[in-house]
Amino acid sequence: MIKLDSFSLFFVANWKLNGNFKFIDQFISNISLPRDKSKCVVICPTSIHLDYMSKNINDFYLGAQNVSQHKDGAYTGEISVNSLSDLNVNFCIVGHSERRQIFYEKNEEINLKSVNLIKNNLVPIICVGETLQEKEKGITNEILEEQLKNSIPISSNFQNTIIAYEPVWAIGTGLTPTIEEIDVTHQFIREHNVKFNKFKILYGGSVKADNVKLITSLLNVDGALIGGASLKTDEFTKIIQD
Ligand code: PGA
Repeated sequence: MIKLDSFSLFFVANWKLNGNFKFIDQFISNISLPRDKSKCVVICPTSIHLDYMSKNINDFYLGAQNVSQHKDGAYTGEISVNSLSDLNVNFCIVGHSERRQIFYEKNEEINLKSVNLIKNNLVPIICVGETLQEKEKGITNEILEEQLKNSIPISSNFQNTIIAYEPVWAIGTGLTPTIEEIDVTHQFIREHNVKFNKFKILYGGSVKADNVKLITSLLNVDGALIGGASLKTDEFTKIIQD
């Protein structure tokens, strides 16, 4: 498994259902990676493009956006952890809010997927975050507590798992919590369980070149999960270079 504690910052590009071969070729030829090798840049293309990416990139790490909770068997359309391992994938986003909301993924499923990933030396990037309604009701901490308690497996530790805090209302909206809110919530997550003390905790939700530096300068923020801005090569270069 990749040594998470050898990196100071993580930048994870979540391409969602975007990108094709032409886009990938352009991205690879235009991106410039940080000289600072303590920054870990992870690209998560669609599963279909993982193979192509793994053959064409040397300097990035590869991540999947989802994985089956099942090892193998009669599960039409699913993608197994073993298939991801075959393609030199090191990371996998798990429990993204789009998976939770659109595909009704539950904490227990997310937990199982993470267990399988860890067993196979892939790092789950486990996403948690409240909806706007939950924020407005003032129950953000309760929601996070429940997600953290049930989706992060017992076998998780700071060397094999990353947590991503993504307020659902900040994803793809251009809205972000204030810097103080991000600070307080990340501290809440870190202190929620003694074992999270040394975990890498990423922030995600409308991260851009002009806010990434401030966000990642916070003591309890160890990097960013980036959606929309990771599809613009110039913008993404600025994000990872700064
Ligand atoms: P966004 O997406 O950067 O476009 O807000 C983040 C995510 O969905 O992980």
